[in-house]
Amino acid sequence: MRSWRPDLTEKDVTPKETYLRRREILQMGAAGATTLLVPSLAKAGEPQGQQLTVARKIEKAGGEGLTSWDSVTGYNNFYELASDKESPARSAGSLKVRPWTVSVEGEVKQPQKIDIETLLRWFPLEERIYRMRCVEAWSMVIPWTGFPLADLVKRLEPTSRARFIAFETLFDPEQLPGQKRPLLSWPYIEGLRIDEATHPLAFLSVGLYGRVLPGQNGAPLRLVVPWKYGFKGIKSIVRITFQETQPKTAWAASQPSEYGFYANVNPEVDHPRWSQARERRIGEFLRRKTLPFNGYADEVVSLYSGMDLRKNF
Ligand code: MTE
Repeated sequence: MRSWRPDLTEKDVTPKETYLRRREILQMGAAGATTLLVPSLAKAGEPQGQQLTVARKIEKAGGEGLTSWDSVTGYNNFYELASDKESPARSAGSLKVRPWTVSVEGEVKQPQKIDIETLLRWFPLEERIYRMRCVEAWSMVIPWTGFPLADLVKRLEPTSRARFIAFETLFDPEQLPGQKRPLLSWPYIEGLRIDEATHPLAFLSVGLYGRVLPGQNGAPLRLVVPWKYGFKGIKSIVRITFQETQPKTAWAASQPSEYGFYANVNPEVDHPRWSQARERRIGEFLRRKTLPFNGYADEVVSLYSGMDLRKNF
C-alpha cells in the first residue's frame, strides 16, 4: 500500500481491463481494434481451477455486477509475493498450499492444529457476494466461497477471557520471497474484536467464483470483512490466536498514523495519501461515492456505538 511513486495520482493508472488486454491491443494495432469484443476474449475471463460444492448463495452487493475473474485474480495486494499489483498472479506458484495446517492458540477450550481438509469437512461452503473496498480507493464486487468466521469461533469455544482474535500469515521467505525485505515486520498479522469476528458478515474464504482460491488471493484460507478496508482481509492464514489484548496488526504497527486497528470504511476520514470520499470500481471509468462501512452500516454500526470513529480509525 506504500506509495512507491508519490508523483503519480490515481488518474494516471491505466484501467485494469485495458492493462490486462495490452498485449492483444498492441498485437492487433488500430485496424484490428474493432474486433476486441469477439467471444474468444470473453473466454479469457472464465473462472479457472477446481470447482467447489456450494450449499447456498447469499447476495450482499445490492445486485451490482461482479468484477471480472481476470481482475479479481490479476490485480492483487500480496506483499509477501510482490509489491506491485500484477506480479502476485505470476509468482503465486511459489506458495505451497498443501499440506496446510492452521494452529489455534490462546484463550480457547482446546488449542489445536487443524488440517485444512478437516476445516473444509466441518463447514458447508457458501457463496457470499460482497463489495470490497481497498484503502487505495479502488473497489471490486467479489463472489467469495467459504464459511462464516462465526461458525469456526463457535466450534472452537473461546474462553470468557477472549476479547480479540489475531490472525497470522505463513512465514516462509522461500515460498513468500517478499518476506526477505523489511517492508513490514513479518509475518503479516491482522485482528478483530471477538464481536466483529462473530458478526454474520465476517467470512473465511477458500474460494472465488465457486473455484478453489488462487494463491494470489490468499490460498488456501483468507479472511474477508466487507465493511473494513481490504488490508484487514489477511491471506494464507496459519495461526488464529484468541487473546485478551488487542493484537499488534502489521500495518498499524508499521505506520500507526496511517493505518488503525479498526479500519472501518469511512468516507469522512481520509488516509494521508488517499481521499476516502470516492472510489474507482475496477472495470468502471467514473468514480463513485464511498459509503460508510462500505454500504453495510445498517448491519454493523451497532458494533461501534459510543466510539469516536475518527480516533478509532
Ligand atoms: N494479506 C497478506 N498476508 N499480505 C498482504 O499483502 N494485502 C491486503 C489483504 N491481505 C495483504 C493481505 C490488502 S492491502 C488487500 S487490499 C487485500 O488483501 C487484497 O486482496 P485481493 O488481492 O484478494 O483482492
